[in-house]
Amino acid sequence: MIAASPNTPAEIAELLAFYASAGVDEALEDAPINRFAEVRPKQAERASAPAARESTPPERPASGPGPDANRAPQRPAAAPGLDASKVPDAPARSMPATAAMPDEAQALLARQMAASASTLDELRQHMAGFDGCNLKFTAKNLVFADGNPNAELMLVGEAPGRDEDLEGLPFVGRSGRLLDRMLAAIGLDRNSAYIANVIPWRPPGNRTPTPHETEICRPFIERQIELVNPKVLVNLGGPSAKTLLNTTEGILRLRGNWRTHTTASGTIIPAMPTLHPAYLLRTPAHKKLAWRDFLEVKAKLRALG
Ligand code: URA
Repeated sequence: MIAASPNTPAEIAELLAFYASAGVDEALEDAPINRFAEVRPKQAERASAPAARESTPPERPASGPGPDANRAPQRPAAAPGLDASKVPDAPARSMPATAAMPDEAQALLARQMAASASTLDELRQHMAGFDGCNLKFTAKNLVFADGNPNAELMLVGEAPGRDEDLEGLPFVGRSGRLLDRMLAAIGLDRNSAYIANVIPWRPPGNRTPTPHETEICRPFIERQIELVNPKVLVNLGGPSAKTLLNTTEGILRLRGNWRTHTTASGTIIPAMPTLHPAYLLRTPAHKKLAWRDFLEVKAKLRALG
């Protein structure tokens, strides 16, 4: 029997083993924290000095939220080349930032920061400096991309899991290993494909990202696709397909049928929605469907030369 309040090292080890076997992989507080309740002086200072943010924004440390986790969402300072007058005001010190800084304002800021990135490196810097998505404060790393940015094929998943968060790279866990095998089956690998996610920060406990989180992060992945400009896009799973292909249809209906993704500048990219590798691990009987989809992708790449 597992002790409810373990005292001895053996009891503690037993309790931890129980948690691990139950799939617990994240230590969170018992009580929820309103991370937007306070505006720290540093944050307020930053808010009044937009120019200071125009330099490369620092990536947050890899050791977790840290003391800055209680800060309010960043002031929507104009990203390089942006019109500051179009950027919403910073949250007032005494107001809950969630009210003063609604998700729409964060999404607007994300759109502006994404649009102002003219290279993938700049985009990564802008994302690393963007504080408008709560997920950033529980994630350990920004998971930007892996693979070859000059590739003809770009694959987009949903959001990083634990392994991806630890390594700062997409699809490096079990589903990533399956994805590598799926790519190999059509003669590709991470040198000939580019991989990213709709959401670049791991949702705590691998929960599903909320619609607001997706909306806030969407401009970044859209700009990433635009900058990579692949010949073919593959949407891994329903959330990627729904977010990027402007549809509400379920993935089992969508998969296997060519769709298009249209970039902000109007480029139309053929897109193949397919089943997510994590789903395939749980439902191996459907691997044959994904295999068909990948053969379609191979044929399309060949046809597009
Ligand atoms: N699932 C995803 O959608 N993305 C990853 O990077 C890993 C797992």
